[in-house]
Amino acid sequence: MVYDRILVSTEQLDACVTRIAQRLNVFYEGHEDILGLVILEGARPFATDLAKKLTFGMKLEFLKASSYKGTESTGKAKIEDRRHLPEKVEGQHILLIDDIYDTGLTLTAILEELKQYHPASMKTCVLLEKEHPHRKEVPVDFIGMKIEDAFVIGYGLDYNGLYRDLPFIAAYQE
Ligand code: IMP
Ligand code: MG
Repeated sequence: MVYDRILVSTEQLDACVTRIAQRLNVFYEGHEDILGLVILEGARPFATDLAKKLTFGMKLEFLKASSYKGTESTGKAKIEDRRHLPEKVEGQHILLIDDIYDTGLTLTAILEELKQYHPASMKTCVLLEKEHPHRKEVPVDFIGMKIEDAFVIGYGLDYNGLYRDLPFIAAYQE
């Protein structure tokens, strides 16, 4: 068994994604031109489930970024394929979508990079926030729920590429 406790059940995840979608639907009402930038791999299930519940127009694009090895953040996040990114972002309304706000290093690095490309607006949306103090505070605009400070797997979140397909969020146990 690689997990001992389920922290967020499938039903709770669905309700959480619905709540975020409702807030986004109010905030972006009437827009047809939002560019949702999804941080791969972890945020893919969240972003695709979220997109089904949105009533405004959002196009999804996927960015690959990585910072973790095993259960430790390496502290350095980077966007792996940034070709065409400046043209895509310039003048666009960007919603950056990630799975989890942990140390804050990934979101900080990506937000700083994207800002250099002059978006018309930029907001951030994450499914989960870990409770412990972040190494970098990020003003996340839309947060699903807080969870305890455990290394978690499931619903896109992995341990070295594994367990992303669990339909719930569980605390990883070696
Ligand atoms: P941060 O830079 O530490 O905030 O972490 C952000 C990225 O690390 C997220 O996009 C996740 O992909 C990954 N991550 C952070 N915490 C966990 C975890 O508990 N399980 C799996 N991946 C995690
Ligand atoms: Mg990630």
